[in-house]
Amino acid sequence: MSEAPKAYCVVIDSLRADDMPAVEVIVRHWVRKDGAVIEEEAAAALVTVRGGLDEASGRRYLVARDGDGKVLGVMGFGPLPERMAPYRTDPSRRAAGLLTAFLSPEARGRGVGKRLLTALFEKARGEGFSEMIWSSNPRYRETAWSFYSALAGDPVGLIEGLFFPTSVSPVWRKSLLPRP
Ligand SMILES: CC(C)(COP(=O)(O)OP(=O)(O)OC[C@H]1O[C@@H](n2cnc3c(N)ncnc32)[C@H](O)[C@@H]1OP(=O)(O)O)[C@@H](O)C(=O)NCCC(=O)NCCS
Repeated sequence: MSEAPKAYCVVIDSLRADDMPAVEVIVRHWVRKDGAVIEEEAAAALVTVRGGLDEASGRRYLVARDGDGKVLGVMGFGPLPERMAPYRTDPSRRAAGLLTAFLSPEARGRGVGKRLLTALFEKARGEGFSEMIWSSNPRYRETAWSFYSALAGDPVGLIEGLFFPTSVSPVWRKSLLPRP
């Protein structure tokens, strides 16, 4: 008989400095090509996450923890990259960009990502942003693109060359304003 997946007690929390070793394991799991860690990209991602511990960075990270406090995943937002600016609803909108979004492999598919991203939307809204805009490396086409469309709706466009010269990737935009 197959076992039912373990139900998680999930707590969403701000990232703490002592979460970084667990975050590093998760990031290094996903930032790979042909099974090998892309060292430069993983290191840069971790510098970005760690820098977010400083409020002045403008970046904010949340983690999902299980009942024992173990980090199940990390997501964050920060200033909108220049190349994403054309995708704002209008130039007066305060838009944030989604940064890192990774769960540990065993935590996937149980609603943890949805809890984390929904909490991140709420946090960005609380800080005065009215939309969040992001794309995703084609490497994550199978592991994340449907998730993003489930949470933000169909992409609002395609962006070329964001991740590598020939990359074509969707752009998602999520309104953070309360529904009328
Ligand atoms: C992307 C990720 C954060 C999603 O988190 P998750 O916990 O697995 O997703 P959830 O279980 O919360 O799913 C939420 C919704 O998205 C849908 N969904 C999630 N992954 C999906 C997939 N691969 N294909 C189709 N639908 C998917 C679920 O069916 C669910 O829909 P529902 O709300 O109607 O039930 C997580 O799977 C992950 O870390 N993926 C690998 C790393 C990655 O690709 N990161 C993105 C880098 S840009």
